[in-house]
Order: sequence, then structure tokens, then C-alpha cells
Amino acid sequence: MATIDSVNNAASDILGGSATNQAVVLSRPVLTSTPRRGWLWGLGVLGVLFASAIFNPFTGTQETAIDIDPTDYATRTKHVLSTTPLIDGHNDLPYLIRSELKHQIYNDKFTFNTGLLSNTDRKKLRDGMVGGQFWSAYIHCPKDSATKKDVPLEDPTWTLRDTLEQIDITKRFVDEFSDLFQYCTNSTCAREAFSNGKIGSFIGIEGGHQIGNSLASLRQLYDLGARYITTTHNCDNVFGTAASTVTAGGEDKGLTPFGEEYVDEMNRLGMMIDLSHVSHETMRDTLRLSKSPVIFSHTGAYALSKVLRFAPDDVLRKTAEKGGVVMITFINRFLRPDDPDAATIHDVVDHIWHVAQVAGWDHVGVGSDFDGTPVTPRGLEDVSKYPRLIELLMERGATDDQIRKFAGENILRAWSEVEKVSEAIQSAGKKPNEALWDGRTWVRSEMSPPIMFRDSIGKRIPSYLGDP
Ligand SMILES: *[C@@H]1O[C@H](CO)[C@@H](O)[C@H](O)[C@H]1NC(C)=O
Repeated sequence: MATIDSVNNAASDILGGSATNQAVVLSRPVLTSTPRRGWLWGLGVLGVLFASAIFNPFTGTQETAIDIDPTDYATRTKHVLSTTPLIDGHNDLPYLIRSELKHQIYNDKFTFNTGLLSNTDRKKLRDGMVGGQFWSAYIHCPKDSATKKDVPLEDPTWTLRDTLEQIDITKRFVDEFSDLFQYCTNSTCAREAFSNGKIGSFIGIEGGHQIGNSLASLRQLYDLGARYITTTHNCDNVFGTAASTVTAGGEDKGLTPFGEEYVDEMNRLGMMIDLSHVSHETMRDTLRLSKSPVIFSHTGAYALSKVLRFAPDDVLRKTAEKGGVVMITFINRFLRPDDPDAATIHDVVDHIWHVAQVAGWDHVGVGSDFDGTPVTPRGLEDVSKYPRLIELLMERGATDDQIRKFAGENILRAWSEVEKVSEAIQSAGKKPNEALWDGRTWVRSEMSPPIMFRDSIGKRIPSYLGDP
């Protein structure tokens, strides 16, 4: 979701916007893939004579395409995307379902199967050969309705409830179209979903403000299936400074001390840390502290666009050192801050190329923000257009191997590394982090005089214990 300083969501603009243009229509991928191991490999090699690819979803290895003209980008693209899942880091369809349908999808209004004017529907996903999607559980930063300013951090809000609703609708949506989607909470399942011909469906939460200032809530959101959290959206929170604060002239204080505890607990849980939307110092502090790779679910290169939520080159290099992945977004006004209406698919190619040059092809990916931004670049109107993006990268010189990494192997590798670090931390016996935010307030009954411990018994106020 790309809103900057207003609770007006992008969604409301979309239906009034241009109808989508489906110039690129590719046939549905034909999956020839089944797990092959050991002696079966010999049979697989024979199969190459008949099928253009052999894909092992458990190792991610693929035979190189044979008999494809290297300049036939469309055929190469179809080949690569039918043997490697294209996984997008950020799509806000769950927020459109919230704002426009109030979460009601079991009726004739929600025409996901027959077509929607917005960026994502069944046909567009198939035309776009999408292999996996992180669906965003986004709720805006809470604002005071009168002043439109951020509410104080300790004020109670509906944000955590609303986040639960976004998780609920994402699961119900995925379940309702289970012939198309497969819900997953780990990287192994993501590969399996693709080899089943399904679009793996995962949940990311787009803002540390959504978790109630509480590491206990964070753990419960993990248990509900969320697998990344964007440390901030467009407001500072108890964990760190947002890029939008620095844009507005505020100080970049990076992570807070409680934010350091958050990083520690995210690593232990195996929840990916997403650094889209955070300030540059929050990026650097996190990269210094995190034991796991970090991701950017939807960002760009600061060297090309001077928007502070984009990652500068030192951050790109550090993200690479940590094994992370920088997924490039399609938001016009960030791609072309000088002239948003002029943004095209070529600007996205430029950002991908820059990250590939600075961080390497092992550390770049795709994170559109489709359905979270009211306007999209020319040539990338909706989720059906990913193949065109791949073709342009090939035209510029990317190899099939580099494309596989970009499309999905990098995010799957980073995710599985986050899982491994978590397993190692947990098997070493580390307990859940009990740190509390120092601005935490407690209600009166939580402040009652101690009765659990002998040395405090004398300090009891007997009257407070009340009648039975
Ligand atoms: C991954 O998810 C699948 C599907 O939910 C589950 O069956 C499997 O046990 C999970 N694997 C791990 C290692 O957690």
C-alpha cells in the first residue's frame, strides 16, 4: 500500500481509473514437474528430449532450455516461468476487499473469477504466470480523526483487530478459490504449491504499528500465519523511524531499543523482517543486528529515485551480504518522482538492473504493490504483465538463471534461511522475548499489590483483595 500521509486508500481511485489493457496473453503454464531423485534422474534426462524442462521443486534445479532461440524472449519467458515460480512480495487485494466489499466475498459482487477492473483477478494471475504471492495484511497508521495526525503510540486503537480481519479475509479468499491458490506458511510449501499448479499464497503484515506494541501479539500473529512484517509503514512506531518521517523533516533515529528486541524476536520466530517504508538508519540498524536475511517486499533503488523509502547502495550491498532480497515495486510516483505520469515498465527494469549490478542477481526480486497503488507504470498495468517484464530483462541481457533467481529463487532462499536461523535459535533453547515497550501503560487491576511472594506480603492492602 503506497499511501503516504493520508488514510485515503489508493483503492477508492482504482475503479474510476483506466480499464486494464491485456496486451500480453500467454497460455496457462503446463507443468511437467514432479520430484525426481537418484536413479530417476536418468529417466528425467530422457524426458528432456520430449519436454523442454525438468524441474525439481525440492532443489530448485532446472535443466537449461534446449532448442529455444535466445532472442525469442517470449518463449524463454514462458519456459522459465513454467519451471520456476514467480513470487511477488506485495499485493494489496485484501485491502481492496476490505475497503470496497467490507470483507464480503460470498456474493455476486465479488467477480474475481469473471474479472475485476483492478489489478488482480483469476485470469490476470494466470496470464501473468504468477507462481506465488505475499498478500498484504495492511491497515493504515492510526490517525486522530480531527487533526489527521498520528495518534500517540500509547493510545488504544482498532489496528490490531483490523489486522486480524485482514488475515481472516486473506485466508477466506485463498480458501474460496482453492482450485487456484494454496495457502502456505513455509518455503517448502511454497515450492510444493507451484509444483501442484497452484499459486502459493502467503501473508505479510505491512507495518509494525499493526501489532499492538507487543511482542506477545507478534508471536500470536506468527501463529496465525503471518510470515513477514514491514517494520514501519508511514508512521514512526515503537520499533523505529519511518522513511516518511524523514521526508517530512523529522530526525532519523533508526531502531529504538525496543526495536532491537523486536529484531531479536523476529529472528527467533522465523518471521521475515521487511524494510520497505523504513528510514535509512532503521535499515542500517536492522542489517547490523539481524541474524537472518532481511527482505524489502516492495522498494526501489535510492540511487535512481531520491525517495527516502528506497534503499541506498550501501544498504543494497549489506542486504546482499546478509543473504536478503530487494523486491522492486511498481509505484509511479516513487519510480519517477519528477514526473509520475511518465513512469513505464522500463523504469522498473532500470531499478531491477541497478540492484542486480550493486547487490547481485542473487538479491533482487519483484514486489509490485499491485492493488495498493492507484496508478501503475505503462506496460505494467496489472498482474498479467509480469512476463513482459521478464522479456525486457532478457532483452537487456539477463540469462535464464538470473531470471529464475529474480523471479522466485531468491525470495525462497531468503525465506528458507530465515527458517533455518529460527530453528537454530530455538533448538539452542532461547526463550520467547519478554521485553516490554517502556511506554506501556497498565490498567488499575494490573497494578494490584503483589500477593504471589512472601517478601511482599506485608505490603498487601487487605481491603483491596475485596469480598469473595
Ligand atoms: C510446511 O507447511 C506444510 C503445509 O502447511 C506443512 O505440512 C509442513 O509440515 C511445514 N513444514 C515445516 C518444516 O514446518
